[in-house]
Amino acid sequence: MNRLAWTVYGQFQLDRGFRTSDPDQIHWGTPGDAGPGAGVLGDIGGKRLLDLGCGGGHYAAHLAREHRAVVDAIDVAPTQHQRALFQYGDVPGVRFLLGDAVDHLYRCEPYDLVYSVHGLGYLHPHHSLPALHRGLHPGGRLVFSVLHTDFHRRPPSSSLEPRQLTVQLKGLEPLAVQLWVLSPQLWEDVLTDHGFTVEAVDFLHRQAGDPVVDQLIQACRA
Ligand SMILES: C[S@@+](CC[C@H](N)C(=O)[O-])C[C@H]1O[C@@H](n2cnc3c(N)ncnc32)[C@H](O)[C@@H]1O
Repeated sequence: MNRLAWTVYGQFQLDRGFRTSDPDQIHWGTPGDAGPGAGVLGDIGGKRLLDLGCGGGHYAAHLAREHRAVVDAIDVAPTQHQRALFQYGDVPGVRFLLGDAVDHLYRCEPYDLVYSVHGLGYLHPHHSLPALHRGLHPGGRLVFSVLHTDFHRRPPSSSLEPRQLTVQLKGLEPLAVQLWVLSPQLWEDVLTDHGFTVEAVDFLHRQAGDPVVDQLIQACRA
């Protein structure tokens, strides 16, 4: 379901020759938000990073260009991967990978840091977190944003279950996706169970009147 939705969206953008504008910052909530940007990643110069669910690849390219990070950027949707290659395939320091991030994390050379801007919420935590533990060095960091209050104004769940949502992407019919929208306490519990220590959880509010709130979670692999 999720792969299909993002593939459809990517195809829509490819068909129209849509190019992402180069970001001057990482927007963990929504494009243009006033969140903490790349600062939460610390000093990433020369470090190996994985962008999980990179979409069009703009943040991976930004971190390689502006912060000298060495970034692998993976997406499971072929059209998103194509978009990333088309726009940023020649940026030094970035490698775009097509595939499931969980499979990749079991095969890769461990990373110093894995980050995800609204990618990790599409994966079952019991599936993704053991793989992330395997794919990070001890002491490596995991930084990710997920929904806290969803598009239908529903608060986060306090039980480990996904919810079905429809996302309204510009120019398209609503698309069905499955997302894990969990309370901060539940994220902390499940991260702790899988060998991570939560360092910080921040709430990111969108524009006035937008009910959606995001969580930005920083954790460290034991
Ligand atoms: C909301 S989009 C975010 C894209 C990008 N991070 C951004 O901020 O623009 C979520 C992305 O996660 C990708 N994704 C979902 N499940 C994935 C998986 N198992 N492995 C890799 N990518 C995945 C989707 O294809 C989609 O491109």
